[in-house]
Order: sequence, then structure tokens, then C-alpha cells
Amino acid sequence: MRKTFGRVRSSSSDSQHPATPLLDRYKDISDNGIVVNFTVNGDDIHYDGPDMRLLPFLRNNLRLTGVKDGCSEGACGACTVIIDGKATKSCVVSLSRLEGKHITTIEGLSEREKNVYGFCFAESGAVQCGFCTPGMIMSIKALIDTNPAPTEIDVRKAIHGNICRCTGYKKIIEAALMSARYLRERIPVERKVEIPVVDERYRRVDAEGKALGIGMYTNDLMLPGMAYGKALRSAYPRARIRAIDTNKALRHPDCIAVFTAENVPENILGHIVHDWPVMIPVGGVTAYIGDAIALAVSEKEESLEEILSLVHIDYEVLPAVYTTEDALRPDAPLVHETGNVLDTEHIVRGEADNALARCAHVVHKVFRTPYTEHAFMEPECAVAAPENDGVLVYTSGQSIYDEQREISRMLKLPPEKVHCHSMLVGGGFGGKEDMSVQHHAALCAYLTHRPVKVRLTRQESINVHPKRHPMDIDLTVGCDENGKLVAMKETIIANTGAYASLGGPVLQRACTHAAGPYNYHNIDILGKAIYTNNVPAGAFRGFGVTQSCFAIECAINLLADQVGLDYWQFRMLNAIKPGDELPNGQMTGPDVGIRECLLAVKDAYYKNGRTGIGCAMKNSGLGVGVPDWGRCILSVEKGKIHVRTSAACMGQGVGTVAVQIAGQTVPGLKNSDFVVEPPDTRRTPDSGTSTASRQTLFCGEATRRAAVQLKNALTGKTLKDLEGREFLGEYLGKTDPINSGKPHPVSHIGYSYSAQVVELDEEGKVAKVTAACDVGTVINRQSLTGQIEGGVVMGLGYALTEHFPVKDGVPQVKYGTLGLLRATSVPPMEIITVCGEGKLPLSYGAKGVGELCTIPTAPACQCAYYRRDHEFRTSLPLQHTPY
Ligand code: FES
Ligand code: FES
Repeated sequence: MRKTFGRVRSSSSDSQHPATPLLDRYKDISDNGIVVNFTVNGDDIHYDGPDMRLLPFLRNNLRLTGVKDGCSEGACGACTVIIDGKATKSCVVSLSRLEGKHITTIEGLSEREKNVYGFCFAESGAVQCGFCTPGMIMSIKALIDTNPAPTEIDVRKAIHGNICRCTGYKKIIEAALMSARYLRERIPVERKVEIPVVDERYRRVDAEGKALGIGMYTNDLMLPGMAYGKALRSAYPRARIRAIDTNKALRHPDCIAVFTAENVPENILGHIVHDWPVMIPVGGVTAYIGDAIALAVSEKEESLEEILSLVHIDYEVLPAVYTTEDALRPDAPLVHETGNVLDTEHIVRGEADNALARCAHVVHKVFRTPYTEHAFMEPECAVAAPENDGVLVYTSGQSIYDEQREISRMLKLPPEKVHCHSMLVGGGFGGKEDMSVQHHAALCAYLTHRPVKVRLTRQESINVHPKRHPMDIDLTVGCDENGKLVAMKETIIANTGAYASLGGPVLQRACTHAAGPYNYHNIDILGKAIYTNNVPAGAFRGFGVTQSCFAIECAINLLADQVGLDYWQFRMLNAIKPGDELPNGQMTGPDVGIRECLLAVKDAYYKNGRTGIGCAMKNSGLGVGVPDWGRCILSVEKGKIHVRTSAACMGQGVGTVAVQIAGQTVPGLKNSDFVVEPPDTRRTPDSGTSTASRQTLFCGEATRRAAVQLKNALTGKTLKDLEGREFLGEYLGKTDPINSGKPHPVSHIGYSYSAQVVELDEEGKVAKVTAACDVGTVINRQSLTGQIEGGVVMGLGYALTEHFPVKDGVPQVKYGTLGLLRATSVPPMEIITVCGEGKLPLSYGAKGVGELCTIPTAPACQCAYYRRDHEFRTSLPLQHTPY
């Protein structure tokens, strides 16, 4: 096939070929344009027009959306294609360099290749959010095409330029080696009928579509008549907006509208605390450089920057605060009129001061943890369109019902007029819980009566969305002469940045988990979350526990030294058992498996003297008295069982979990009996946010309850007999508020536990990580171990390589300088799953794993380096290591 783009020059033989409708995009090209001929997936392309990058040409002009845009700056590899046999990042290649070249995208794979790569990636559990996967496969194909029998090292090198934030690369490497073998040995792909049950091998329902670039993320949507929106961000962290002049911008030929706060029905939003303006109004004061001041809507995406450059803002620059110390000074500028303290938590049990005074051994240390960027592979994007007298919003957030709630508040519309539909989500890790683009897209569509896409550039994403909190932790912990922990006292100061986001709950979790999974009860923990004029901090995998766990796990090693115990012994001596009382007062049930975790890593710890150990516990579910629902509808439609839940899958595979739980409950069903629907406020019931490691337990239990009803209804009948029937399963986790006054409050429905050992090599590089996790029943082993591997690698990055420097409120970092670990630098990992003596009576005994697996890695690294060189490091990333 031949396709022509741009002006057809009369002297060329291309004049035979009429231009396609996409010509409109280039109808006013200048004579300085380029003329170039190349092929894409075997089609001849004649291009005559202004030079441009290959990535937008493939995605927008050829609609080859399997080529993903993760950064547009050559740093992530999501856009990888093959040009004349070489894996190449299409975002950095200009069309002018392509004369005579042959380009292959994921869509251009042969049927056999699609079969093999799709199958092997699904079979190996190599696909989570899937946003990196098509680019990975293209790098791997370029390798296998020239080296049909690659080694693991060959594969690692081949995907060195492809970042995966979810998997930790291990299963991607396995999938690559498996694909090579299938292709080399001409092994036929056999897709057997699969029976979905718990803890049996079962391929993820979404893996192949994501791997082959067929799965649709929000940025892949192109609606008829769609316009594009973009926010103008503040030039200063703290400044009063004296005036906004949009006149020049409105005269731009592509400009449809420029909106300001005046156009917003309700301007103040916020996930929990309403403190975050949709746009800063005239007279208002900005709180950070990510604040939106105006929103431009353009016919063309490429005109947005130019239009925004024509909006004139008159600022009065004001003094700002960036550190918590400065923000707490009596004369500090106020980030919000309510003061600079967002939240205070004080958890007291027993008599910490008196108990510490009686301790045989006491350690006092101050720890500092930094900002961390989620670096999910898919930058934020939303598309909104008018729907009747409301809006339809396509999103990639972590809860469609939270988005519906906040957008309906902003537009002053009843919730039912805000229809939210989730596309695939290219990773979240907590960073997609807040409004980022969804509300702006909805506002633009509502006001212009046009479909509007709003997406963040990678740098905007880095500058705008909330990060992991930096925390300063002042910790005193003591034990008796035998090493039994007795008491701890701690102050946690969290820099929560410009807006509340989830700063309050994050601080709570930091405090409630600060004492670790150990059996002692004199606790005094004071936490404060402080507003500053930095990028906000909010939810991030670990949710505050990553930070407070680092402090306690490092500190108890010093106690162990004083007592004369080794670090494994000290933990085993103090680890909680079933029937013990957690430091927060909650009685533990038979599911507690921290001792089993320790036993599982014992050999790894004692293997040599170059190891370090860390333990962690993490709640499943919101807990602390917050209403916490899981919901799922199983409906029978056209002979299939539709699994309908709003639980967002950011890569963790909750849809597959629901199918396996339904299949476990209703024997005799097979994979082809199920259809997993995407979250949609018209179709799927509210199952809460995908946060707090909660959906496997909460949505899983709701699915089990729905499936019990389906099973009962099926007795003596077939699915055909149940056509049109719906079965709603609901589960409400009831918990007690913090400081409820109860002697043994139920703070959380369940906790998962982990012990990890990091082993260094002779040079001080990480040689291996052994991670034991008590997550109760394993639902899908491939997904679970993949998630743990990804979490461990994220924890290694937190410990060793990741940076998020901020200067005067401005992040000094790009995606390529975040320090994300690459396939060439991740160590071997051994994942061990264990259980306590019993199981939770919910969701077949499954507990959350999403956050747990990241938490103990950093202290285990610190411990290993401390044993190596006796330097006791108190901040992250760890200094004086080979990284
Ligand atoms: S989109 Fe090209 S490298 Fe990230
Ligand atoms: S699966 Fe690789 S980034 Fe999500």
C-alpha cells in the first residue's frame, strides 16, 4: 500500500495519488518542508511537509498507537521501533532522516511473531501495566532477528534503553528467552483452555492485548472533532496573580478558548481536604510551580505552547517556604490561610518515656528520606466529551468514582451527569490518585461542547503530580538486656508540599507502622505533615511506611549490636506471633507470618558476611474507621459472565484476580466464559480506590460473594438460563478509628509481612535479593511474584540510585536523570511466599502485596553496607556505595 502525506508535488509521480484527509494537517506547509520516502510496516510512505519527529507521525498520522509516548525525550524506550533492523527510539528521530528507510512497529510484526511474543509475554507474567511492553518487544525482536539464540546478558543489553517501572525486568527477560526459543525451534503456540482457580497457573486476561499494542490507553483515543487542552503553570512557587490577559492568545488562529478560574463553577477541589484550586484566580496566591492559572483549548495540539505563551500573567512574587523548618517558624509565609500544618498525629500507648528510662540499651538517631518520583510509564492523560447535558470522561486514574466525585463538585453537576470510564492505566503506584488532567479535560469539554484531550508532557508530570513525602524522623528505641524491645519514641515531620493530597493518611500510616512488626507496647509517635511551596507529596507505594520502616529497621541493628545479637536473631526474638498485640494495640490473628518470613530468608542472611536484612508490615485496606467497600457485579450477558468492578488495574492484575476468584467459587467455568469490563461509572459499582494494597482483598471478597450467588443460581441450570441476571457482591471492612480508646482496636482488616535479605558482591554491588512475603493465599503466582520483583527493584532504586532534587521549589530533574534502574543493573531475585498458621477468612485468605514488597528493601540495603564498612547511613539514597 502507498500512503501520501502532505502536499503532493506536481513534478513527482506522487501526483497520481490523491492526498488523504490527514493532509488537512499540513495544508499550509511552507516551501521549506521536506520530501521523504520510506516504508512503515511494508507500506510505502511519501511525505511532503514540515519536518517532524517520527513518533507523532506514527501515532497521529498513521494511527499506529502501539508505539507509546512515555517521555518524548529519548529517555524511556516506550516508543521503540525498528529502523533498518536496529531498535530505535522513534521520539528522537526526525522524518528528514528516514529517506529510503524501512520502519517496523509492533503492528508490523508477522502473525507468527505476534502469536509468539504475545503468548510468551503473557505466559511468563512479563506484562503488568503494559505501557512499556510493545517497545520492549521491538528491542527484543531486533535482537532475536540477528541473534536467534541470545543469552540473558544479550537480552539485558538489548533492553537497556527500555525502562519498565512495574516488573523489575526479570519476567521480561524470561519472556524474551522463551520467545527466542519458540521462534528458533518453530514451537507451535498452543493456547489451551484454562480453568480459572486460585493459585494455579493462569494467564492474565489483559496481557496479550497490552503486549501487542492493541490495548487502548487514554492517549490512544482520537475522537471525531477532538480539540486539545493545556494548562499554563505558575512561573513562581509563590506569587499573587494580579491580572491575567488572554486577549492575544484568543486571537491565535488555532485557539478555541482560554479559560481561567472565573469559568470554573466550583474552583476548589481536593482528594480529602478541599485546598487545591482548579486554577489560581486573579487575587489568588500560587502554592507551587505546578499550579494552573489558565487553560487553553486549541484545534491543534502543536499550537498549545504558542497559545499559552501569548497569555500574559501579571505576578507579584512573594516569599516562599521550602523546608519544614522554615514553614514552622512563627513568621513563616503561609502556604494556606489555615496555617502551614496540614495534619498532626499522636499515637500513644503505654509509657514510652518511663520505659525508655528503664531500658538496658537505647539508640537515638535522626533519619532523612527524600522525595521520590513515581515515574509511571504513562504520563497523565484524559479525554472528555459532552454527553447529553453532562460529560463523559475517559481517564487513566486510580478510581473512577473519586474522579466522578471531584469533577461533579467542580462542575456543580449531579454525579450521574459525570460519566467516567477508565482506559488502560499505564502504571500509577499512588501517583494517579489526585486530579491532574481529568478535571481540566472535563471543564474544557463542558465549556466548549467539544471532545478535548489534555495530557501532560513528561516534564509537566514530574513537576505537577504529588510525590513520595520527604520525612525527617527523630527516633529513640530501647530494649532490655536480652534484646527484647521495650519502647520507642519518635517524631516524624513530613514535607507535604503545596496541597494536602493524601498527606494526612500518609502521615497516619507512617505513624501507625513506625514501630515495625514487633511485640512491644510503649509507643509515643508524634507526626506532623507540613505545607511548603514545593510540589505536593501524597500517595506512593508504601504510603509513609517506606519512610518510617527505614528508620526503625536501621535503628534496631544498633540495639542488636549493643546486646550482642545478630540482626536476624534480634528480629526473630521480637517478631510478633499470632495472639500477640501489635504496637498499635491490634491483636494479631493466626494469619501473621513475619516469623515464617524470617525463617524463609535465614539461609540467605547467613550465606556470608555481606548481607543485610529488613522486615516490614503493611496494612491491606484503608482501615482506621474509614468506610472501605469492595464491590463487584457478575452479570450473565450473551452466555458470558461479565466481571464488573470499578477497581482500577494499574498493572497489578485485579481483573485476573477477580476471574480466578469467581472460577474458584463456581467450579466448571473456563477462561472463555469470562469478559472483564473496564471500570465505568455506568456499568461497574464503586469498589473504592486502587490504593492501600486493598483490591485483592476487598474487591476479591466482593467477587467471591457475587460468585457464591451465581453458583447457587446455577444449581441445575446453565449460563443460558441465567441470561440477563446480575449478582452483586459487596464487602465492607469495618475498622476502628485511630485513638478510639479501645484496648485492642481493629485498625486494619489485615496486614501482610515481609523479610528481605540483600546480598552484596565483593565490590559492594547488590548481588542478590531474597524476598519472603506473607501475603496469605496466592491468587495468581505469576502476577504476584512479578509484582514483588518490581517492588523490590523500586525499593533498590529508592535505596541506591533514585534522586529527586528540588531547588527553590523547582524539581531539578528529567525522566532520564531520575536514576531509575535498568535491566542491566538489576540483580537476581528470589521470591518466596509464605503463610502464617492460618488465613484471613476473606478473599480465600489473600492479603495485599502491592506496597509491602517495596518497603524493607532500603533498610536491608543499609544494613548490608553497614556490615560491609561500618558506616551507619541515615539518609536515602545511601551514600558511599558503588552506585
Ligand atoms: S517516548 Fe521515546 S524514549 Fe520515551
Ligand atoms: S509493565 Fe513495564 S512499565 Fe508497566
